[in-house]
Amino acid sequence: MDKDLYLAAGCFWGAEHFFKQIDGVLFTEVGFANGHTDNPTYEQVYTDTTGFAETVHLRFDPLRVSLNFLLQMYFKAIDPTSLNQQGEDRGTRYRTGIYYTDPDDLPFIRQVMDREAERYSKPLQVEVEPLINFFRAEDYHQDYLVANPNGYCHLPVTLFAEARAARDLRTLQKAEQYRLALKQMRSLLDGEKDSIARMANTAALLHDAFHFWWTGFYRVVEGELLLGPFQGPVACMHIDFGKGVCGSAWKERRTLMVPDVEQFPGHIACSSASRSEIVVPVKQEGNVVAVLDIDSQHLAYFDHADRHFLEEVAALLP
Ligand code: SME
Repeated sequence: MDKDLYLAAGCFWGAEHFFKQIDGVLFTEVGFANGHTDNPTYEQVYTDTTGFAETVHLRFDPLRVSLNFLLQMYFKAIDPTSLNQQGEDRGTRYRTGIYYTDPDDLPFIRQVMDREAERYSKPLQVEVEPLINFFRAEDYHQDYLVANPNGYCHLPVTLFAEARAARDLRTLQKAEQYRLALKQMRSLLDGEKDSIARMANTAALLHDAFHFWWTGFYRVVEGELLLGPFQGPVACMHIDFGKGVCGSAWKERRTLMVPDVEQFPGHIACSSASRSEIVVPVKQEGNVVAVLDIDSQHLAYFDHADRHFLEEVAALLP
């Protein structure tokens, strides 16, 4: 459930000290990412010929802090328009980069990058790449500023205070709301066997609690998805296997998060007001029997916390 993220933000001593103090970050270590040798030493990376970037590996709890929030904090700690230089540190090893291990994270990263790009007149120099490799740095680099409180740091100390004070309130509140909704749902469904009645009240409960744009179910009926109980504007009634977000989630048998529906090939637009979407398969004895589909009028509305809790919802059904 915990998630990993690899961020290059210039000298990793200060960068680690910054990220480790953010609420919801569970673990950090510093190392070298995306280079072309094995097990590099600091001295080798320092020659600037190995292709590695000084990088912080973060593990975080997505039910406390979202990827989005962490990336916003990241942008506070870097000059994203500076190529191969942060503070006085120069070289490709000090480049900025976001390295992901879960391809589902990429649309979220792109969204933050696009939003940040609008704030600058110069192009962003932050590279966004899958993580190719990561080698932990020597022990004396780990928690360097804890061991050496007066050690060199390219970041201002005020930034560390900001990291300590940072709370992802949206994620914290959302998690609380889901926990409450799940509790209500368990008691609401208790003793009711009819799956349509169960889906109907689940859709009503979620829709009412979160004010989504569209909340509902498509059931697998005779080899296609057929519109089931829902709340919100009228919707298309039939969806083929593998078609749209719903048919794809059915085919891939996994939750699909779509931060921007226009970027999803084959998205079926029941309403032009819907901008982001999450679809969670509902399974019975291992078979997908329905999908829970939720749409929002806002871009990138659903993230890993929604996925976690909506999968708990789906597990209580059909
Ligand atoms: N957008 C969905 C279709 C269902 S509506 O969102 C209610 C899809 O692409 O599968």
